[in-house]
Parts: sequence; C-alpha cells; structure tokens
Amino acid sequence: MVENTEAAVEAGEWQDLPLMATPSGWLDAVLADFAGFLSDHASCEKKASGMALNIASHYPDQPKLLMAMADLAVEELSHYREVLKLMAQCGIQPGPDRKDPYVRALNDLIRRGPEFFLLDRLLVAAIIERRGAERFGMIAAAHPDPATRRFYRAITSSEGRHWQLFLRLAQEHCPDQGLDSRLEELVAAEATLMRRQPFRAALH
Ligand SMILES: [Fe+2]
Ligand SMILES: [Fe+2]
Repeated sequence: MVENTEAAVEAGEWQDLPLMATPSGWLDAVLADFAGFLSDHASCEKKASGMALNIASHYPDQPKLLMAMADLAVEELSHYREVLKLMAQCGIQPGPDRKDPYVRALNDLIRRGPEFFLLDRLLVAAIIERRGAERFGMIAAAHPDPATRRFYRAITSSEGRHWQLFLRLAQEHCPDQGLDSRLEELVAAEATLMRRQPFRAALH
C-alpha cells in the first residue's frame, strides 16, 4: 500500500528526534470525529507532496536533494490517494483544505538568509514529519478498527523514514551551519507551539 521512499535512509544514523509527547486529549478529539480527521489527513498528505516539490524547485542544481524530493513528492501523493480511497470506502466526502497554524508558525521560524535557509527548511520538515509519525502511530495503536490500524501502521513507518531523510539531507547539505544547536532551538519552539494548540480532529 505505502511505497518506500527511493532515497533509503541508512539505519541507525539518527536514532530519534525527540519531541514533546502529544497529550492524550488530542487522540480523544481525533477518535471522536475520525471522518473530520481523515479529511484533514488527506489535505496534509497533499500539502506534504507540494512542499517536497517546492524544495525541489528551489534547488535544481542539487541532484541528490532534487531526486529525494521527487521521490518524496510521489510517495506523499500516494498517501493522499490512499487516504482518499479509505474515505471513499467509508462514504466520507473530503472537505476543503484548512489553514494549518502549526505548520505556518514553524515555517515562520525559517531564517531567510541564504546560508541558513536550506538548513532551517530541512529541519522544520524533519520536525513536521516526526510529529506526523508520532501521531499516526497513536492512531495505529488506538483505533478500534483493525484495517484502519493496519493502514496507520504503514503510514507511520513511512513517515518515520521521512524525518530521518530530512535530517540526513540537512547533515549532507549543511554540515557547517550548526545543525545540532539549531535543531535544539526548533524542537523547543515546536514544544511551545504544541502547548498552545487546541485539540481538534486534525493532524495538528
Ligand atoms: Fe505522508
Ligand atoms: Fe511524510
């Protein structure tokens, strides 16, 4: 169902990217309106594909990054299609895309200077993917329907590769720009954002 990212991640390079744990109130809100959650999830996958293409369009001169983003865009779009199929099976109509204040606030933290722009972009993407993997994993463990749990297990492992991919790309493309300390700052900022987020039937 969920295809592998072409740019495989070498196991063990990044053991984890620890974020603040999502409170259980989020899962309660999602399970209380799972149709609403699915609609948001579909939209997030589509946006993730667009984000990968957007990075690709900025770096046509970086072949490795370009190919990784092309692969990722395809994989995210295949997730989008899978979520749409799941919704159709359940008779759920997708809603319009909604603004995502969490992603917007994280994107606002990206420094615009040429020496830091790519680093920040890749680290923010890694954090968004890591948060997605955590939350999809919560659904994979808790949803009452076995087929839905299976679906979210596959999505979780796919998104788990994505955050590792972004960290590896950051390490390869921005080796001298203070990756570790910037990641620490962004993880702290993400925790502040998370604490402000209301619980709703959405990925963020
Ligand atoms: Fe995805
Ligand atoms: Fe992803």
